[in-house]
Amino acid sequence: MLIAPSILAADFAHLADEVRAVEQDADWLHVDVMDNHFVPNLTIGLPVVSRLMGTTRLPFDCHLMIELPQRWAVPYAEAGAYNVSFHAEAVDDAVALAKNLRAAGSRAGLAIDRDTPVEPYLEILPHFDVLLIMTIKAGFGGQQFIPALLDKVRTARRHASSGHLDLRLEVDGGITEDTITQAAEAGADAFVAGTAVYRADDPAGAVRRLRRAAGSAAP
Ligand code: DX5
Ligand code: ZN
Repeated sequence: MLIAPSILAADFAHLADEVRAVEQDADWLHVDVMDNHFVPNLTIGLPVVSRLMGTTRLPFDCHLMIELPQRWAVPYAEAGAYNVSFHAEAVDDAVALAKNLRAAGSRAGLAIDRDTPVEPYLEILPHFDVLLIMTIKAGFGGQQFIPALLDKVRTARRHASSGHLDLRLEVDGGITEDTITQAAEAGADAFVAGTAVYRADDPAGAVRRLRRAAGSAAP
């Protein structure tokens, strides 16, 4: 079970401090890169992300919500990202980009947004290390978790298990101490949480509580 706090909900004026606040308890740091084209929101880009990497030992899980990821994703890998996820809806050749990311030294992640079915992508999953299934519409933090989207997690988990794939199933959006249990029961094993971590009084404690709640899921 991996917990990945999303700095989208952190204080952007104090990013390094906000990362340090969860460093002992988090597994990955989730970084949402948005370009105001693929989604109607704008966040941070490579200069900020790569500087932030230098302040922590946490592996960076970069979630690119951008157009033309074939142009921008590899530089995140070269800068030292642990995983780079790009959106299936934004590329023509997802496999080619996954190969380039792996060649550049990072894991490759495929993200699928709320309205995208998972079935068309099952066949290409061996090229990926992470499948990021949105449990909201990508673009903004603080939205309500959509339980129906867990059907995609179940489908992907069945497929990954039967094919013996070495694949992380990550969920992103509306993850709280309540919803994380359902997501874990559906087969997710990596959990992004923005609001639930960074709007809590004690972000590190919130990470620990999320981990406990995920661990309490029925097998
Ligand atoms: C939204 C981002 C999420 C966001 C989740 O498109 O991909 O990572 O930070 O925020 P919460 O946990 O508040 O739903
Ligand atoms: Zn995200």
